Amino acid sequence: MTASTLRPQNNKKLRHFLDLKDLSAAELRAILDLAADVKLCQHNRRYPLHPKQPLAGRTLGLILAQPSTRTRVSFEVGMEQLGGAVSVLSPSDMQLGRGETIADTARVLSRFLDIIVLRTGNDDDLRELAKWSSVPVINGLTPVSHPIQILADVLTFEEHRGPISGRTLAWVGDGNNVATSLIEAAALLNFTLRLATPEGFDPSESAIKWARQQGALIETMRDPLQAVKGADAVITDTWVSMSDTDAERRHMLFKPYHVDKALMSHAAPNAIFMHCLPAHIGEEVSQEIFEGPHSVVFDEAENRLHSQKGLLLWCLGQE
Ligand code: CP
Ligand code: NVA
Repeated sequence: MTASTLRPQNNKKLRHFLDLKDLSAAELRAILDLAADVKLCQHNRRYPLHPKQPLAGRTLGLILAQPSTRTRVSFEVGMEQLGGAVSVLSPSDMQLGRGETIADTARVLSRFLDIIVLRTGNDDDLRELAKWSSVPVINGLTPVSHPIQILADVLTFEEHRGPISGRTLAWVGDGNNVATSLIEAAALLNFTLRLATPEGFDPSESAIKWARQQGALIETMRDPLQAVKGADAVITDTWVSMSDTDAERRHMLFKPYHVDKALMSHAAPNAIFMHCLPAHIGEEVSQEIFEGPHSVVFDEAENRLHSQKGLLLWCLGQE
């Protein structure tokens, strides 16, 4: 095999993973199917965990401009389980932190790496990296979207409650990056999404417009009770995301969006509670719900590993 066959060619369309809306429904389903396959392989305790070690000789660059536990560890472990290697990078340790451009960084890293994940506080930086990279780029979270989280969330929902198509999910709290990716998933996977957010923290208008153009059923409201009524899943997230600077105001305005037993009792009796983590107990969710029978938050966290392994295989054409 020549070196050129190991890397995506510049003239081929790169399989970046920047936002769910860039994928077709079939592509998203293909990633989820790969995720389910690699999970089964791992749970059957077959060693090596993926017998063909499909990413042997490949290296992932994981650039983290913001903190991470799940994203970092799941990509590190997942890449290793698929036979590949990882280089974890922080902009402050790179020449990027001293003003080297993203365009030059992307072109240099593309000569070393086979795939790049970027977590950044500036969504434009992700787009710029993808523009200049000649290897696939994965969005590891920006203030605008968090699509890798939603891969895990869909996998988790379907494991607990069956096919997501036609079901109703309720988002309670901030109309943030995770909510945006969930809106895009609703369009691709045909589920109803109700979002209850306080005034001033509405979900992305452009994401909703795009999703509705695809025929998605997206309902926005202020009242969390109306959102969760009969829902198959109740989902929330922190009131203060990593890029937010108005924590005090948020803590006041989000109080009515606290998910507790009283709110959860309006969802379907077998509804699941999901949260991307990290959680703030007593703020967006009560201890009783977080630790209770509805909660699938640690399955959801585990599924970050499996879904990202599926994603890595798909981005690198190893499906
Ligand atoms: N949910 C999530 O992305 O977690 P980390 O910030 O720990 O990566
Ligand atoms: N909305 C959160 C998600 C953390 C995984 C944030 O952006 O900080």
